[in-house]
Amino acid sequence: MKAVIPAAGLATRFLPATKVVPKELLPVVDRPVLQYIVEEAAQAGIDDVLLITGRGKTAMVDHFDRRPDLETRLAEKPELLAAVRRPEQLAQIYTCRQPEQLGLGHAVGYAGTHVGDQPFAVMLGDEFVSLSEPLLPAMLDLQARTGGIVLAFAEVPLEETKRYGIASVAPADRSLADLGEVVEVTGLVEKPKPEDAPSNLAVLGRYVLPSAIFEAIGRTGKGSGGEIQLTDAMGLLLKEGMPVHAIVYRGTRYDTGMPLGYLQTVVQLACEREDLGAEFRQWLGEFVASDAGRRT
Ligand code: UTP
Repeated sequence: MKAVIPAAGLATRFLPATKVVPKELLPVVDRPVLQYIVEEAAQAGIDDVLLITGRGKTAMVDHFDRRPDLETRLAEKPELLAAVRRPEQLAQIYTCRQPEQLGLGHAVGYAGTHVGDQPFAVMLGDEFVSLSEPLLPAMLDLQARTGGIVLAFAEVPLEETKRYGIASVAPADRSLADLGEVVEVTGLVEKPKPEDAPSNLAVLGRYVLPSAIFEAIGRTGKGSGGEIQLTDAMGLLLKEGMPVHAIVYRGTRYDTGMPLGYLQTVVQLACEREDLGAEFRQWLGEFVASDAGRRT
């Protein structure tokens, strides 16, 4: 199984930080967002990861390379040495470039040659889930059983539907219930207004797709925002009878694509860290209770 991480977007919601630094490289405590994502892939047994990159994004690939000069300096510091080596040990990283940012569907289309005719996972570069509540393994199983498209949903407040792809769903076959809260998808709409949204089930940044998606992307015209949308390509296959299922995910997910979600992620993961969590939680409690913490 291969994973594709589309990471060529312009990240306008996080400017100016992302003018030079890709949002995938923003640090969460002491490692970049992208490392958490590749950890999630590795935990699901995926060791072949294709990064779709664009202009100014080559540092993302460097993070997964060895640094022999640094490693020599760290010979006496085994913990740091292990941390520096960790990214390179997680997976084989491949890259290709999306020359123009024409949308997520367009970006995924560039993965066709690398992926070939096998099903594959797509993991968006700005969100990840808790390693203690994994999502991908059940999605991979579900795809193996149905042969179709597998998505993951989170319930969102209705007023937020315009930020996501939103699904209409029906109950899934009972035989799939051992994989979690599985639903059958009957329709998908990209970023609807709350009054037009068919549900509050939002598409998360994890997909397991059959290779038929590449040909469907080729037939997909510009959609929402003038971009070639992955949602629209999946919609074509759905209309043509391909089974589309989803798992409703109720674990912890982290959305680092804009400042508020990013800050929440940093605080949550810092609190959980064995090495600095206790000290950080104590400081955070004191800060929140202080005049500065309560200022509005
Ligand atoms: P987003 O909708 O988050 O777009 O793309 P973005 O450019 O990253 O960020 P904003 O909305 O301007 O702040 C979802 C994923 O698809 C990738 C992005 O890198 C992100 O991981 N993407 C999007 C591409 O690789 N290419 C594109 O043309 C568009």
